Amino acid sequence: MASLNPLSTLCLSYLLLLTLFLSLAEPAITSSKSTKIGQGYRLISIQDDPNGAITGLLQVKEKNDIYGSDIPLLRFYVKHETESRLRVHITDAKSKRWEVPYDLLPREQPSPLKQNIKRLKKNSLSVSEHSSSELVFSYTSDPFSFAVKRKSNGDTLFDSNSNESDPFGPLVFKDQYLEISTKLPKDASLYGLGENSQPHGIKLYPNDPYTLYTTDVAAINLNTDLYGSHPVYMDLRNHEGGKPNAHGVLLLNSNGMDVFYKGTSLTYKIIGGVLDFYFFAGPTPLSVVDQYTSFIGRPAPMPYWAFGFHQCRWGYHNLSVVEDVVENYNKAKIPLDVIWNDDDHMDGHKDFTLNPVNYPRPKLLNFLERIHNIGMKYIVIIDPGIAVNSSYGVYQRGMANDVFIKHEGEPFLAQVWPGAVYFPDFLNPKTVSWWGDEIRRFHELVPVDGLWIDMNEASNFCSGKCTIPTGKVCPSGTGPGWVCCLDCKNITSTRWDDPPYKINASGLQAPIGFKTIATSAVHYNGILEYDAHSIYGFSQTIATHKALQGLQGKRPFILTRSTYVGSGKYAAHWTGDNQGTWENLRYSISTMLNFGIFGVPMVGSDICGFYPQPTEELCNRWIEVGAFYPFSRDHANYYSPRQELYQWETVAESARNALGMRYKLLPYLYTLNYEAHISGAPIARPLFFSFPTYIECYSLSTQFLLGSSLMISPVLEQGKTEVDALFPPGTWYSLFDLTQVIVSKDGTNVTLNAPLHVVNVHLYQNSILPMQQGGMISKDARMTPFSLIVTFPAGANEGEAKGNLFLDDDELPEMKLGNGYSTYIDFHASVKEGTVKVWSQVQEGKFALDKGWVIDTINVLGLNGNGAIGTIEINGKPTNVKIDTTKQNYIHGRGDGEKNIVMVGMKGLNIPVGKSFAMTWKMGS
Ligand code: NOJ
Repeated sequence: MASLNPLSTLCLSYLLLLTLFLSLAEPAITSSKSTKIGQGYRLISIQDDPNGAITGLLQVKEKNDIYGSDIPLLRFYVKHETESRLRVHITDAKSKRWEVPYDLLPREQPSPLKQNIKRLKKNSLSVSEHSSSELVFSYTSDPFSFAVKRKSNGDTLFDSNSNESDPFGPLVFKDQYLEISTKLPKDASLYGLGENSQPHGIKLYPNDPYTLYTTDVAAINLNTDLYGSHPVYMDLRNHEGGKPNAHGVLLLNSNGMDVFYKGTSLTYKIIGGVLDFYFFAGPTPLSVVDQYTSFIGRPAPMPYWAFGFHQCRWGYHNLSVVEDVVENYNKAKIPLDVIWNDDDHMDGHKDFTLNPVNYPRPKLLNFLERIHNIGMKYIVIIDPGIAVNSSYGVYQRGMANDVFIKHEGEPFLAQVWPGAVYFPDFLNPKTVSWWGDEIRRFHELVPVDGLWIDMNEASNFCSGKCTIPTGKVCPSGTGPGWVCCLDCKNITSTRWDDPPYKINASGLQAPIGFKTIATSAVHYNGILEYDAHSIYGFSQTIATHKALQGLQGKRPFILTRSTYVGSGKYAAHWTGDNQGTWENLRYSISTMLNFGIFGVPMVGSDICGFYPQPTEELCNRWIEVGAFYPFSRDHANYYSPRQELYQWETVAESARNALGMRYKLLPYLYTLNYEAHISGAPIARPLFFSFPTYIECYSLSTQFLLGSSLMISPVLEQGKTEVDALFPPGTWYSLFDLTQVIVSKDGTNVTLNAPLHVVNVHLYQNSILPMQQGGMISKDARMTPFSLIVTFPAGANEGEAKGNLFLDDDELPEMKLGNGYSTYIDFHASVKEGTVKVWSQVQEGKFALDKGWVIDTINVLGLNGNGAIGTIEINGKPTNVKIDTTKQNYIHGRGDGEKNIVMVGMKGLNIPVGKSFAMTWKMGS
């Protein structure tokens, strides 16, 4: 009989508790049916607003009491906020309702409603256009519905009008239940709506549930609400192979919601707040994320070292173990930039403390000095739960400043790793200052380089109203305990704890207060946890960012588990407690790609899986994927066997290979971080970002791009030594072996060789990829000479290629040009009638010149010829550098022998990166 490991026990106890809790709760009103609730609203008045908006009043047609009574009068407000952004805001006309706080997510306030509003004629259809806007708003007045169209092609992007035949009804707006739907064309491919492990891949799958409510429910995490809430989707359409046609839709609402996607319609069922829609016109996937992140906040700039490899684990019982890990990475010649501590360094799992026996401060400081001297970094975890312990300074100061979330006037009691805890209320300015001060104090104790904020959904091992048991040790036993040991009672007495409509919380219609803060608990200014639940992690992230920035004066690095709309502006994210299974390896790609769309491009999953222990083969394959996650970290559970990459010789070899390539690609990754920061462009992208009209890649979730042109096609199945990969039309070059070429006119599937230590990475035509020589640590890799790979379409008589490079002092809080500590370079290349040109345009070259960076090598791929070339001139002067021409081989496509292609490689160039150059030669002379 199979024995249960501690983690299976965890999952089981979670399920048992949940079942018990559910059986005590009231029977849920089923949420998955598309019942039509009510007759909707009629528009009774409308007016133009001087600020360019239109506002109107909506009157309920017929009241009913399903999920509470209807709000009789609503106010709607529509504004073309930019050429590509339209806002539709609907709320109670008479009373203020909860909205995502304007100070956390800065945006325009809808203007107040005016009197003397013009009366409407019955059933009139009206349209609001804005001369320069791509989006057109129209409405019907009885029943009220609205539509958003694309001006350039008349495409309807959103249409809430419901007919008899539609599986949804008109607008519903009650205090605790809001419902609105849109029709969708059959050919719409939707992406987003997370955080959610989607077993069907990146494209939303009709009838899969999408519940948004921040939850720590890792053990049963398929298709359920998870750590983050992102009520945004991208809709990509391609009518008859025409122009790319993508747009985005954000419903800015932080209350729990179920979203039902049925293929030809999408329905939101939300338990509070307002309807605040933002439509982003696109029309390309990249322009959608650009418009989206210009609204929610551009992704945070990351320090250079953050793109190095990170090693973590829960259960590094003492400092010597950590020292050994660092040493062993070095011995195994596997790169490592950052070493992490989970809560093992803490004294009794208490935030901001050190265990005096296992992590004595003098020894820790000594270790940090040693690793800092070689450029390595150190990060530790903090949880929001503050131990209730009268001799603990953090708690004492928290109590003195009254910083905790309250329930019935007392701090709300919960349990996390240290036992009984209170949760800080980050919506309270006093809490933000206290938190900043605690971080400052801790930083004086231990000079950490970044912070990892965990369990911030918020996760609680208990549910309901709890008290500390007398005469019991809580938690008891050795090792981390997650079984509730407080004395707790269910709270179902308020409509906040037991709302009329049950979202599909935890995938099981669990009560919304299950294993989190009771939803009738109260934050600063009377804000209910019911409303603010899903922004808890977000508010903690902002407070932590403020603290680190103020404290270090450096670019902060924060990793957060719980995220909301806008979190990417402050932090990176990892996908939480995944499992060491092949399925989870596959899911990691979809989740990573979703977070790029959510504006959180610095993302990755626990490499090799958090639990249970991975097989050696899986860990090999995982590092081959994880080496290309934007955020690349190996992390494991307390009870898992050790899984650092050097633990198995085969994994070490795969790691040297894949991470070896990552470290050569660091300048590219860092430039992608800059692009993300200035335009929201995801670092890791689905293929449709570069090939938006190539329908074959719309649901591809097994391959991904880094930037616009580097494609990773990993092995994701056990026992496979080949991988079937999709290649969009054009020429692709293997990055590990530049001589291998895949060409197709219309796109093709190719079976690639992929023995255990091989991961396939291909570079697309028309690109210039900046690389360096790699190394064991990013600080050293960063100082090695540069190389450029230039790719033309194989054998083309005419072609162009481009790429770019951003370099800066990565300690500066801001990542931008113009501060004297950054350089930006555009690289170009062209081939025309046998003449090849490669050149650069440098902006603000001083920083790169001061650093002494040079381009040593340039390889130009796909040139038509037999190998002979004329003299190479650099800046008008002949050069005598070493030149190699190498024949390239078609792995797929062409193969007719007519187009012989060669790679021309130059070494020893010594061209200053910070100075524009121009190089030219003729082929075949
Ligand atoms: C939950 C996190 O998801 C996991 O990564 C961490 O190891 C544990 N908490 C312990 O801190």
